[in-house]
Amino acid sequence: MSQQQWTAVDQYLTDTLVPADAALDAALHATADAGLPAISVSPNQGRLLHILALSHGARNILEIGTLGGYSAIWLARALPPGGRLITLEADPHHAEVARANLERAGLAEVADVRLGKALDTLPQLAAEGHGPFDLVFIDADKVNTAAYFEWALKLTRRGSLIITDNVVRDGAVLDAASHDASVQGVRRFLEAMAAEPRVVATAIQTVGSKGYDGLAFAFVS
Ligand code: SAH
Ligand code: DHB
Ligand code: MG
Repeated sequence: MSQQQWTAVDQYLTDTLVPADAALDAALHATADAGLPAISVSPNQGRLLHILALSHGARNILEIGTLGGYSAIWLARALPPGGRLITLEADPHHAEVARANLERAGLAEVADVRLGKALDTLPQLAAEGHGPFDLVFIDADKVNTAAYFEWALKLTRRGSLIITDNVVRDGAVLDAASHDASVQGVRRFLEAMAAEPRVVATAIQTVGSKGYDGLAFAFVS
């Protein structure tokens, strides 16, 4: 099995199941044109986030790590009327691209892009009385993933869902002696999630156009 095959199958699945959408396509193009890295979730992953938010009946969503707002559009589109999404981004250029993409998608009133390092903006959200969030998507720097998970627990309630991206990293997560700070960050997160009595958690490996990686799920019980 090769990356080429994973990409071809993702292309087939996306062509078959994920209808082309002007605002989502424009968001990906604008993200690439602005020179942002090609690390948005794939279309079929985006639709998985959308399905999870829909099935969960999420009305308040928190995302940590916006990039160009592609996953934010998928998540925000699952919200019922009056629902809100807050997405946290440290890079001013990324935040600007994301705001334009969300506006083009008609979501400017629904989605709030908060500029700042998430470890600064998360306490601000808490101080402002935001939450509890029904769904949290953690997809920022991997070094701080365990800390984001702790904040997600503070900002959720029983019944909330916490989803975390990039927990396998080409299998590098296996290497307990890794010198890669992102790998160590993901391992600390997985261990913290496993030790957390307030959640029922799992993680799955994924392959596709984004390579070999994985997603973690924690149901707050
Ligand atoms: N969720 C996006 C992809 C996010 S990529 C999507 O699928 O469309 C990760 C993003 O996290 C990048 O834009 C990066 O700038 C941002 N980021 C990195 N460190 C951060 C931090 N400390 N606080 C907030 N955002 C951060
Ligand atoms: C990286 C970050 C992501 O969120 C992702 O989906 C893929 C890669 C990264 O920082 O390398
Ligand atoms: Mg990611």
